[in-house]
Amino acid sequence: MSKKLLIVEDDPGLQSQLRWCFSDFEVFLADDEESALRQIEEQSPQVVTLDLGLPPDAGGVSVGFLILEKIISINSSIKVIVVTGQEDRENALKAVSMGAYDFFNKPVDAKILSLVVDRAYRLYEIEQENQALLSQQQSTPLSGILTSSSKMLGICDTVEKVAPSDLSVLVLGESGTGKELIARAVHDLSHYSEGNFVAINCAAIPENLLESELFGHEKGSFTGASGQKKGKVEVANGGTLFLDEIGDMPMDLQAKMLRFLQERVIERVGGIKEIPIDTRVICATHRPLGEMIKQQLFREDLYFRISDININLPPLRDRGNDILLLSKVFLDRYTKQQDKTIKGFSQSAENTLLDYECRGNIRELDKIIRRAVIMSNNTYIQPEDLLIESSYSGDSTEKEISDSTLTLAMARNIAEKRAIERVMQEVSGNISKAAKLLDVSRPTLYSLIERLGIDL
Ligand SMILES: Nc1ncnc2c1ncn2[C@@H]1O[C@H](COP(=O)(O)OP(=O)(O)OP(=O)(O)O)[C@@H](O)[C@H]1O
Ligand SMILES: [Mg+2]
Repeated sequence: MSKKLLIVEDDPGLQSQLRWCFSDFEVFLADDEESALRQIEEQSPQVVTLDLGLPPDAGGVSVGFLILEKIISINSSIKVIVVTGQEDRENALKAVSMGAYDFFNKPVDAKILSLVVDRAYRLYEIEQENQALLSQQQSTPLSGILTSSSKMLGICDTVEKVAPSDLSVLVLGESGTGKELIARAVHDLSHYSEGNFVAINCAAIPENLLESELFGHEKGSFTGASGQKKGKVEVANGGTLFLDEIGDMPMDLQAKMLRFLQERVIERVGGIKEIPIDTRVICATHRPLGEMIKQQLFREDLYFRISDININLPPLRDRGNDILLLSKVFLDRYTKQQDKTIKGFSQSAENTLLDYECRGNIRELDKIIRRAVIMSNNTYIQPEDLLIESSYSGDSTEKEISDSTLTLAMARNIAEKRAIERVMQEVSGNISKAAKLLDVSRPTLYSLIERLGIDL
């Protein structure tokens, strides 16, 4: 790629003086809006010097600002150096806030300007390399998983290794970190990939129905069991059974699950014969199972059975630049889907995203970007389009959380309470909707509301 510089300047004397300062650049000249924009389109220069005072407003700055705005909307990676009159700091700063790379005062000192241009070019190059690197790394060998974080790339590596083995896999991580996505990746790369991937959310099904959901039932085995029904375990025969939120499985069922994992046979509820099952079992939970074992809420023997390998998915805030990478992918997806012409994020919107904790992780980020695309009328997404607060530092619950004396159980209660309150607000108090969004059953939500003392 050759180094190209466009000089936008209406003073012929200065034009010819500047023209010879940049020996290692191919230099193009323009003296008004029309010729400047034409050169941008035709030559794609990486760096532009732009005199703000151009005809027909040679004494003012309006034409210069107009060109600046247009250049940035054509290609925001172009480095524009604005050349202003002496003492014109205000306009110089305004130009930078609009997206100019730097400013330079007249009279022009060719040597210094040439240093500034060189540095701008170098930065352009670095940004391009960085971009190329990102797009190379953003698609991992595992389908659907986007990341450039070394932690996550390490996890992808682990998934590739354990998938074809018969090791049991336990996926741990906060809500929305991609636990199900990882489980599917394990399935896709395993010997069971031709079979079904059957997911069951142990937290979403009422306790009394969970056993028959899992193991099936014979006709008349309990009130309402009008016919014989295969359970999820049986449907997953030859494929993968994904036990999501295993931390929410009631104790008595944990015993039955353990028995199944040891013997690899099931009995339908009300049935008498044993049915052999060959299935890969993958479990996931956002709960701290170690803590639950201590409190006797989770069986230790079951834990050992399901966790030959633990995959700990880091929250999005610990994945470096992934929040921007994923935001860009989601933006692209939703602008196409909504048929809009949004070109990207403004710098301040990117900063807002980088500052945001995103407790709902990738699932929440996806929602934020989708909403911004639908609602925004801007060419570049602005911070206010994101409808998020960039930090919760004023929140008293946050202070409690950073207190090191806090136990895990207390921290969990605070987090759960906050999540429920937020969702309840979002759905205007509709319990069914809230339960759906929170991925819990209605009875579970009611009991949480009571236990956590949430005002409705
Ligand atoms: N690394 C990633 N790249 C792209 N999309 C992702 C990634 N991780 C998660 N997602 C997407 O985010 C959403 C949430 O992922 P998933 O359902 O796997 O998370 P989860 O941990 O099971 O969430 P929950 O705790 O809410 O059940 C899905 O739409 C998924 O496709
Ligand atoms: Mg999930």
